[in-house]
Amino acid sequence: MVRLCGGGCQGYFLFTLKVDRVPKLVHFTRLGSNAPVSQVRCATAVATAGSAACLAKGVTLLRVLSGIQPTGSLHLGNYLGMMRPMISYMDRSELFVFVVNFHALTSVTDSEKLSRGTLEAAADFLALGLDPDRCVFWVQSDVPEVVELAWILTCITPMGLLERCHSYKDKIAKGISPNHGLFAYPVLMAADILLYQSNLVPVGKDQKQHIEVTRDIAIKFNNTYGETFVIPEGEISDEIATIPGVDGQKMSKSYDNTIEIFLDEKTLRKKVMGIMTDSVPVDQPKNPETCNLFQIYRHFAPQDRVAEVRRLYLEGGAAYGTIKKELAAILWDYFRGPREKRETLMNDPEQIKQILRTGAEKARNIAKPTIELVRERVGIRY
Ligand code: ADP
Ligand code: TRP
Repeated sequence: MVRLCGGGCQGYFLFTLKVDRVPKLVHFTRLGSNAPVSQVRCATAVATAGSAACLAKGVTLLRVLSGIQPTGSLHLGNYLGMMRPMISYMDRSELFVFVVNFHALTSVTDSEKLSRGTLEAAADFLALGLDPDRCVFWVQSDVPEVVELAWILTCITPMGLLERCHSYKDKIAKGISPNHGLFAYPVLMAADILLYQSNLVPVGKDQKQHIEVTRDIAIKFNNTYGETFVIPEGEISDEIATIPGVDGQKMSKSYDNTIEIFLDEKTLRKKVMGIMTDSVPVDQPKNPETCNLFQIYRHFAPQDRVAEVRRLYLEGGAAYGTIKKELAAILWDYFRGPREKRETLMNDPEQIKQILRTGAEKARNIAKPTIELVRERVGIRY
């Protein structure tokens, strides 16, 4: 059976040819990023298949997948770098979002904390606007086939590929005593991505190398055992690649420099007022591009106000204290709806669990053909 599938979003388009259940990537390229989905899909269909007829048959949207660890309170970096872009894919792709609790085991040993964090991370996504009816939303461990795939991939992954990973090396440099899970982390991430035959993986810049590792593993598997996996692409937005924390380094739980989304008003204000700035006097010109405060402010303030404040930076007149107070108020307002929704959800954990169970069922149905094919390919059969 040969089936042609293709689609695109955000300027990407691709086609896969399915021969006996094996997705074979035929074409994957990038169009001008402003091309609307329908236009991209038409262009693809016509350019690749030479016929508009395939639009009617088997043309599907790009599959976009990403996950988040349930390892702490959600901060502005997570929101801008990963959650907001993911949620925006809901209407223009086949969206897969999940909470990666197996990955969290590499750093969390408090079982209560992990369990509570998993539910909270799910509530965060739902509160911020993820609609479980318009995507596949689940918890990683509810589809345990991913661990089986991770083991199979481990057996073709060269040690050197993992030894070169920055996030592993950085953690060791920080004095974290590495467990095998931390070393093998990228292979489990590859299994997450490949199990669902994902096309596009939006992540923050720090995860770019892990996507490259995933691609290397998938290519090696396909070369060794025959065409099996779609080779995914990472998507890292240049504009929000790295959101700075209050100290100017990358905002990260590991650096204790975060501004969490769901803080009470007083703590939020205190954190914002604590953003480090330089001591250039108010009336002197300043560089908005290198100012942590402005780099956070510009993502949340209305665009005309951002332009006005940018002008004050460049010409003189930007008062850090005033901008911080304004930012605190903007953030409090910006997350008002999600804050209320999150509270409602957390008061009804059964509702969250039901959503996750339904999502896991959908995810498992997609994962099953891949894992069966992989078993067949590598010889886990008799
Ligand atoms: P942390 O560094 O706080 O532990 P995670 O590693 O759990 O955050 O990141 C979860 C997601 O959020 C990833 O996709 C990551 O790339 C993104 N992300 C985290 N911090 C930032 C940041 N400061 N700027 C942009 N994206 C970020
Ligand atoms: N490693 C990612 C992070 O720390 C989380 C993650 C696990 C992930 N599996 C994934 C992200 C698959 C994208 C796709 O943020």
